[in-house]
Amino acid sequence: MDERITQAQATPAELSGELTLRPQYLSEYCGQSASKENLSIYIEAARRRGEPLDHVLFYGPPGLGKTTLAGIIANELGVDIQVTSGPAIGKAGDLAAILTNLKDGDVLFIDEIHRLNRQVEEILYSAMEDYAIDIVIGKGPSARSLRIDIAKFTLIGATTRAGSLSAPLRDRFGIVCKFDFYTVDEIKSILYRTAGVLHTTIDDESLDELGRRSRGTPRIANRLLKRVRDFSEVIGDGRVDIEITRKALDALRVDNLGLDKLDREILETIIKGFAGGPVGIETIASAIGEERVTIEDANEPYLIQSGLLYRTQKGRVAAKAAYEHLGLMHLYKEEE
Ligand SMILES: Nc1ncnc2c1ncn2[C@@H]1O[C@H](COP(=O)(O)OP(=O)(O)O)[C@@H](O)[C@H]1O
Ligand SMILES: [Mg+2]
Repeated sequence: MDERITQAQATPAELSGELTLRPQYLSEYCGQSASKENLSIYIEAARRRGEPLDHVLFYGPPGLGKTTLAGIIANELGVDIQVTSGPAIGKAGDLAAILTNLKDGDVLFIDEIHRLNRQVEEILYSAMEDYAIDIVIGKGPSARSLRIDIAKFTLIGATTRAGSLSAPLRDRFGIVCKFDFYTVDEIKSILYRTAGVLHTTIDDESLDELGRRSRGTPRIANRLLKRVRDFSEVIGDGRVDIEITRKALDALRVDNLGLDKLDREILETIIKGFAGGPVGIETIASAIGEERVTIEDANEPYLIQSGLLYRTQKGRVAAKAAYEHLGLMHLYKEEE
């Protein structure tokens, strides 16, 4: 489990625990300021007009606050939210059942919306555009189509990969928000708030250390804070200081850039196994026995953002900074 400490996907236990850590209002939500400011205007405008908010698409790496912000939007609008996910909606009928149960203004949140199947996605087109769905009754020659009106709802879709969304679906979102990694200061504010919720005393130096080693990802930051708190309670007096923080992070094998075992393995494989690249993502995935999607969605974005890895037409290439970080400069060859 420990080697997964910095994976940005939520573990099942966290999904329930996160409910208490999740901010409820925009004012408590740190960072993503561009999206936040725009959304607060759209929310206010929709509220004044008494109309549903336009459909919203969130995209970006896991753990950056997409689900949290969807909940906040519903809260700020004062409406109910229905939460589901692409893979959970198996048939067109399942989606029809969800849609016909919504009330005017309600938010429908579909996580991993890029994983909806084709038939389900088609139902969504008319639902988003006309607030109506067409369902087919009967089979064969006697089958006929019936149009049913549904409530004027807001769809919020979230995805880690906007590129996997079909163009017709993408085009139906009036508001599109890209989620970026958080700055160290933003992560620090989030951790400060979380420490308060958890009744943990933590000094600024420790917040700083955690802020720098959380890969700009609130979910990872909160998770590391909880583990550091465990250390402080067992080997200290319950207060989190820099010594305990460093000890805990080292024990968790989170390095000074916040990279975990898998991140380092990816870089090491490219450098040692494939002369630094370029090498295809499938090849990397099979060399380390990891799922391609995990590497692409959870690890790669941060490695790229940190300037350790880059993508070319021919595949992934380890940057000079990666050789330096891993102490492998003797293998580095200047590009001709
Ligand atoms: N901007 C933020 N401010 C405070 N906490 C946040 C913020 N973004 C995310 N979090 C916390 O990080 C965790 C993961 O957020 P989540 O919304 O589930 O991410 P995503 O849906 O993008 O994977 C939650 O526990 C949430 O409380
Ligand atoms: Mg989520």
